[in-house]
Amino acid sequence: MIVCRSQNEIEKLRRVNQLVARILSELRQVVVPGITTADIDELAERRVREAGAEPAFKGYHGYPATVCASVNEQVVHGIPSLRPLVDGDIVSIDMGAKLDGFYGDCAVTVPVGTVSPQATELLRVTEEALFRGIDSVRPGARVSDIGAAVQQHVEAQGFSVVREFVGHGIGTSLHEEPQVANYGPAGHGPRLSEGMVLAIEPMVNAGKPAVKVLSDGWTAVTRDKSLSAHFEHTVVVTREGCEILTLLAAEEARAKQLLAGRIVPGGDARESEGVRAHS
Ligand code: CO
Repeated sequence: MIVCRSQNEIEKLRRVNQLVARILSELRQVVVPGITTADIDELAERRVREAGAEPAFKGYHGYPATVCASVNEQVVHGIPSLRPLVDGDIVSIDMGAKLDGFYGDCAVTVPVGTVSPQATELLRVTEEALFRGIDSVRPGARVSDIGAAVQQHVEAQGFSVVREFVGHGIGTSLHEEPQVANYGPAGHGPRLSEGMVLAIEPMVNAGKPAVKVLSDGWTAVTRDKSLSAHFEHTVVVTREGCEILTLLAAEEARAKQLLAGRIVPGGDARESEGVRAHS
């Protein structure tokens, strides 16, 4: 069953997702050559607890940290470590938190210093693909429309979509129904309706789509050792389209650029666009 949240529940989801987005924004700003992913994790956990929230991933099926920090060919679920990031790396930072019974989840991939043109392109395409997926979210659309939009964009740019990990419903648990794949034909799966909350999270490889999990039981890497990127937003389906719960007001202009020419016209002034940030 897919839960449709009440306004009161959505307000709580807004609060925790905005918290996650704010912390993630601080984390991305401390990413410089020389910092370790353990440093990033320590800052993340401190900020989560200062806000009276709890890390969502720590202890989840035994996961040991507050963030997942996946470097270069690591796809997702990289465990923070004492290995310093170096100029030219890319690092995907994924963080979840729980506040007042509700979960937030968001991820970004960040360049470390100066990165290759291919890495820059991979980050751009992955974030764009996330926004293509988000743009397909509206009442009456089908869950698989999201993955179809993501895959179409990624493959048109010559990259590939990871199949083994998917996005998910989120609310009073970190992972709820439905699963949100990042590939496949449109027009399948449950129909979306107002109040459904989804974490959409494409993982995109520069090379082939295949991944494997390292012997630590968590870290997923590309089999061909190509670079991989991951962007994630949590959204709620609205009458107009959706609201991106993890979008900061300061990022709204950039989000609109990513959706350039693809914005769905709507009703009243505040909700005059199909996709909006909470402000
Ligand atoms: Co997620």
